[in-house]
Amino acid sequence: MQEQLKQLKEQAMAEISKVDEKASLNEFRVKYLGKQGLLTQILRGMRDVPAEQRPVVGALVNEVRALIEEQLSAKEADFEKREMESELAKNYIDITEPAQGHERGALHPLSKVFELLIDSCVNMGFKVVEGPEVELDYYNFEALNIPKNHPSRDMQDTFFITDNILLRSQTSSVQARTMEVMKPPFKIISPGRVYRNDSDATHSPVFHQMEGLVIDENISMADLKAMLIVLMRKTFGEQTQIRFRPSFFPFTEPSVEVDVTCPSCHGEGCRLCKGTGFMELLGAGIVNPKVLEANGIDSKKYRGFAFGFGVDRVAMVKNGIADIRSMFKNDIRFLKQMK
Ligand code: DAH
Repeated sequence: MQEQLKQLKEQAMAEISKVDEKASLNEFRVKYLGKQGLLTQILRGMRDVPAEQRPVVGALVNEVRALIEEQLSAKEADFEKREMESELAKNYIDITEPAQGHERGALHPLSKVFELLIDSCVNMGFKVVEGPEVELDYYNFEALNIPKNHPSRDMQDTFFITDNILLRSQTSSVQARTMEVMKPPFKIISPGRVYRNDSDATHSPVFHQMEGLVIDENISMADLKAMLIVLMRKTFGEQTQIRFRPSFFPFTEPSVEVDVTCPSCHGEGCRLCKGTGFMELLGAGIVNPKVLEANGIDSKKYRGFAFGFGVDRVAMVKNGIADIRSMFKNDIRFLKQMK
């Protein structure tokens, strides 16, 4: 029996060294240690072992069992370790790899132009004042010398909400509101959204204007011109020239339209400015004394100049945008180009 046990031990050791997958370990365990296993079978012969030899044989049996068990668990641990290693290798994360980077947002071209215009004016001492977009007819028209049913209302296709309430068609409405509450002298700008029933490549029903108003003693066209030169040079570059053309607005007298040299050709004439070298950009003038009086300002003592322009147009000219509507579609491809 001792001989049998030694043989079994050798056979088991030889066999286990060849086991190369976890599943076969169990077969091995059953084959040697199971109820019908080889060791159990040999143990059945214990009956025939003489009593005095039993302790020695018993010790040998235990030794063989312990050895097989030891080998089994060593092998098992080895398989588990290998499994873990291959799992780790498969799911390897290189924590030193640089991150993929985030998409960077940017300001909308309109916001950038607003920022530039407002900064330039604030640096010249202007205060920013805002007014409501849903406005009374009074501030949008009447207080600006545009009476009800007057033909000059036709210059703007206004969205009326009721007879007396409208979506403001110009930021000039803020002029009237400001004159009502501020004591001269003052310098204000009013940036904001305005609305007109107009829609094509250069007109949008919602667009943006910036209004300026300066009220003081001894104001003249020279002040207006000097201020606008500074503002336009900050906006379009130092070589920019401006020119005044006589015009008409009910709230200014005299009134002018202001052109700036084309930022693309600097006055030579190109496709952008249709060969004229200039771009029509804003309306301006000396505040009509009737408007001052209507808003409670002494027109004998004070005078003022005012200007107003389309901010969308400035953004379009600066960025070479052909269609105003592309600025409101939020097409990510367009916005990326504008970064
Ligand atoms: N509000 C005028 C418009 O929308 C622009 C304008 C012209 C504003 C002359 C002014 C100004 O303040 O003096 O067409």
